[in-house]
Amino acid sequence: MDLNPKKQQLLKALEGKLPQEVILSKSEDCAPYGGDWTRMTGSPLLVFLPKTTEQVALILKNCNELKIPVIPSGGRTGLSGGAVVTANEVVLSLSRMSKISSVDLLGRTVRVQAGAVTEAVHEHCAKEGLLWPIDLASKGTCEVGGNLSTNAGGVRVIRYGMVRKWVSGLQIVTMNGDVIELNRGLEKNNTGYDLIQLMVGAEGTLAVITEATLKLVRLPQKEKVLFFSLPSLEAIKQLFKKARLAPFEILAFEFFSQSCLKAVEKQLNRRSKLDKPGEFYVLMEIELGLGSEPEDLLEQWLVDVLGADFVIDGMWAQSSTERKEIWGLREGITESIALTHEVRKYDVSVAVSQIVEFITEAERLFLSMNLEADLYLFGHFGDGSPHLNIVRRDTIDHKTFVEHCDRFEKELYLLIKKWGGSASSEHGVGLLKKSWVAMAKTPQEMALVKAIKTAFDPNHLLNPGKIFSL
Ligand code: MLT
Ligand code: ZN
Repeated sequence: MDLNPKKQQLLKALEGKLPQEVILSKSEDCAPYGGDWTRMTGSPLLVFLPKTTEQVALILKNCNELKIPVIPSGGRTGLSGGAVVTANEVVLSLSRMSKISSVDLLGRTVRVQAGAVTEAVHEHCAKEGLLWPIDLASKGTCEVGGNLSTNAGGVRVIRYGMVRKWVSGLQIVTMNGDVIELNRGLEKNNTGYDLIQLMVGAEGTLAVITEATLKLVRLPQKEKVLFFSLPSLEAIKQLFKKARLAPFEILAFEFFSQSCLKAVEKQLNRRSKLDKPGEFYVLMEIELGLGSEPEDLLEQWLVDVLGADFVIDGMWAQSSTERKEIWGLREGITESIALTHEVRKYDVSVAVSQIVEFITEAERLFLSMNLEADLYLFGHFGDGSPHLNIVRRDTIDHKTFVEHCDRFEKELYLLIKKWGGSASSEHGVGLLKKSWVAMAKTPQEMALVKAIKTAFDPNHLLNPGKIFSL
């Protein structure tokens, strides 16, 4: 028999008030909810899977009264540990609240529950020719509540920006059980502090998001996917300059190194169709203007670029299958690297104009430290947001790898500070980037952040220890 007194008290307080299927109490049923894609994991005290906002309010209110900490949980695809259980907290999963209402065509919005899977929202809105323009490799699993709570980025930030631009209403539940509607989907509402924007990126530390009104755009009409091999980072910059001046809209400008491609080829058995390989690859997705002339302009642009000495080889996808195949190379990187060996991930950003200089210096730093590990470079070149993934070699064990990475991390953070960048461009802070927050924010800033946290959650029970320690 489980004798944990807090667990017994909470179950007793909720007795008869929640349907049985909302509560998981056996440790084997709770275990999958303890971690995320970082592979860090812990044991939840209990897991709740509410189906309504009222149930969320009831659970939070009771946890608050009993001073039991709660971790809000979505698709758990996070890479910073934002949804990881560390001290036997209760997990509140929103996954069963996945309703997507009909699209408001005049307002160009859709109302969804927090547990709606991002890709399901895409499919739903595509029927109306519309799109919630958040596109992530994890879109088939991640949920809207998690996207909002982490202010997710993804591959189309260069065109549409981060998640925070694409929400006009939120329903939230605070730890004391209050249900609050924020902004009610209004396009214009200048009435003081914008609490929606406080909630976005708060990583579930202020309140639980239960519903959201999402802003939509027209689905891109004439998309093309182009793929290039290049000799160097500097060559990517030259291609990017050309693309910025071209007569089309860039939807994505992603890069990856030869080692990333090799990992995808080996682990997932996918292949590049380019004849000539390069040190680096660029996947560029664009949207052409309407009419027939834009195709000719693109062709001219491509001929020009392929004739330049900074491009080794290039192609443009001729079918939707080929488009998917090229995207499959980029989207398979995370999984392939994870299958290769133990990984430490750095999701950083600098000004777009300085990305090459920054990566060059970071790479030099990495090599100068002679670590028994390999560096895999990929990410969102067009957003100034490279991902540096350090992969352990067989020559060292886990403990030594952690020591090596910690040494590198200290130097890397100093470098990011020097370049005026950020150590979390799109993955959030969670547990893994807390030392960066402590280093990068001034004491005055931290005092304000903590005061905001206390105003929403006076007992400090919501997702404790994430982003910062109190
Ligand atoms: C990506 O860009 O593919 C994601 O941010 C995931 C990752 O960094 O591994
Ligand atoms: Zn990314």
